[in-house]
Amino acid sequence: MTVQSAKSAKHSQTTITELMIPSYANFGGKIHGGILLSLMDKVAYACASKHAGNYCVTVSVDTVDFLMPVEVGDLVSLKASVNYVGRSSLVVGIKVIAENVKKGMVKHTNTSYFTMVAKDESDKPTMVPPLMLESKEDIRRFVEAIDRKEIKRSSQNDMQQSKQDWSLNKALALVDGERCEVKIPEK
Ligand SMILES: CC(C)(COP(=O)(O)OP(=O)(O)OC[C@H]1O[C@@H](n2cnc3c(N)ncnc32)[C@H](O)[C@@H]1OP(=O)(O)O)[C@@H](O)C(=O)NCCC(=O)NCCS
Repeated sequence: MTVQSAKSAKHSQTTITELMIPSYANFGGKIHGGILLSLMDKVAYACASKHAGNYCVTVSVDTVDFLMPVEVGDLVSLKASVNYVGRSSLVVGIKVIAENVKKGMVKHTNTSYFTMVAKDESDKPTMVPPLMLESKEDIRRFVEAIDRKEIKRSSQNDMQQSKQDWSLNKALALVDGERCEVKIPEK
């Protein structure tokens, strides 16, 4: 097996900038969330593939919160950087900013983390180069990615457990007081 040399995050940092045109808007006049998700996927793909030296696929997206609406006419920039690498997986951090060019105002609309997996010629996951950590910021991002992985793993375990412990009586107690009506037809 060949030993891969580490690559810095700088090597694969990628930015996509796109003008938000009227056809991207929803009926409320704001930009569709799906347009931004698609751009995020594109920039994550470009950044991950550049680091991996292979094409990558998206395997998981770690929370996308739209903190502020994006308007038609805004210039949206998506900045992607490899935060963490495993064996075949990479976590790409993406920061989205929207700029109103007339007012010169810039707003941070969201930050998300895309987990991508590098694939070889036969479509199998393949090893990616290690990440060279060159600053405190690089180390912080790497460690935060490990923390998020651990939190996700532990919440998946909790979810699994609560599925196993499921009972109608427990569920009814939980929905009591929520904004729903229980109306199960009698057989
Ligand atoms: C991604 C994929 C190759 C993983 O396949 P797999 O059989 O689970 O492969 P492995 O178990 O070897 O896992 C590969 C890596 O993915 C990671 N992984 C798998 N599922 C994951 C998940 N839900 N979240 C985060 N990482 C995940 C594993 O931890 C592993 O990382 P590592 O190599 O750095 O240790 C496979 O699920 C796939 O091809 N999915 C479709 C992806 C796709 O087409 N995306 C486009 C959207 S339609």
